[in-house]
Amino acid sequence: MKAVHCTSYGNPEVLKIVEIPKPKPQSDELVIRIHATAVNSGDARIRRADPWAVRLIFGLAKPRKPILGGVFSGEIVETGNAVSKFRVGELVFGSVGMKFGAYAEFIAVPETAAITAKPESLSHLEAAVIPFGAMTALHFIRKANIQPGQKVLIYGASGAVGSAAVQLAKFYGAEVTAVCSGANAELVKKIGADKVINYRKEELSVNKEQYNVIYETVNKLSFSESIKHLKKDGTLILGAADFSKMLRAGFARMSGKKVITGVIKESAEGMDAVKKLIDERKYQPVLDRVFTLDQIAQAHEYVDLGHKKGNVGILVIP
Ligand SMILES: NC(=O)c1ccc[n+]([C@@H]2O[C@H](COP(=O)([O-])OP(=O)(O)OC[C@H]3O[C@@H](n4cnc5c(N)ncnc54)[C@H](OP(=O)(O)O)[C@@H]3O)[C@@H](O)[C@H]2O)c1
Repeated sequence: MKAVHCTSYGNPEVLKIVEIPKPKPQSDELVIRIHATAVNSGDARIRRADPWAVRLIFGLAKPRKPILGGVFSGEIVETGNAVSKFRVGELVFGSVGMKFGAYAEFIAVPETAAITAKPESLSHLEAAVIPFGAMTALHFIRKANIQPGQKVLIYGASGAVGSAAVQLAKFYGAEVTAVCSGANAELVKKIGADKVINYRKEELSVNKEQYNVIYETVNKLSFSESIKHLKKDGTLILGAADFSKMLRAGFARMSGKKVITGVIKESAEGMDAVKKLIDERKYQPVLDRVFTLDQIAQAHEYVDLGHKKGNVGILVIP
């Protein structure tokens, strides 16, 4: 099969197309023919080894698992003999998260992975771009226990995670304020934002509003500014915290503040919940540029710019 290997850490040119054997399923695994995948900020950060400590987990000189890519939509083409939940021919979409392997024509995944039936209303491309943002935002937004009518601020609202967070906060009944650049104001309104703050024109500090929940998705707002805009019992979600923010989160928790951070875990239950929202037309994919597997280095170059609108899709079967 055709796949993409990350041959060392570095710029997008380290990604090379290779021909390797198609995976065989273990007894509890499915082999999925991938129709579409996505280039997410997480893949790009591992490729760049950003932060450096990535190397301590994923491999010192290059990723131990050379095929990046955490999400996919496709067709089950083979099942192991102990598989009972899925059948050959079913169309599914999902995530293997940081286990990776989706920049390829086929992937083998345990049947218990974060996968579910592909929504009929979506193309493979639209389905493939959903799990990264949706699983991340669902994890954090569930923890924040948003109540109807609460004021929620989503910082970085036009990215993959931000656009998912806007839609999920809205689903839980929040009044959503989205922070993004002016060019993306219409986009975030379309997916449910009630108010939009253009971070390039209007400093958040000028705004005197306080929020029940602030979800900082892109690590661009200072910790003190975030706390300043939080109501007394409010919850701060630091979805992309670096080491120093994690430390500050720890100290803030000791003084009674509710600060949520950490690494998300995707699940089949989460994917089922998101599929239900899609089927009920309460959640939609936000798709920016589309590339083919051969163009994956170009897709990474675009994602590295840090200003994609939602998600970047990769057509594996053009
Ligand atoms: N904790 C976890 O387990 C977990 C899981 C998944 C992802 N993450 C992290 O979550 C972060 C966000 O991921 P993502 O995929 O959503 O990123 P992304 O799609 O690459 O984010 C791009 C967005 O960031 C916005 N942005 C850029 N500079 C900004 C600024 N100065 N102020 C406000 N917004 C700005 C851009 O908006 P404009 O173009 O409008 O400027 C753009 O829409 C990443 O760091 C990722 O590593 C963490």
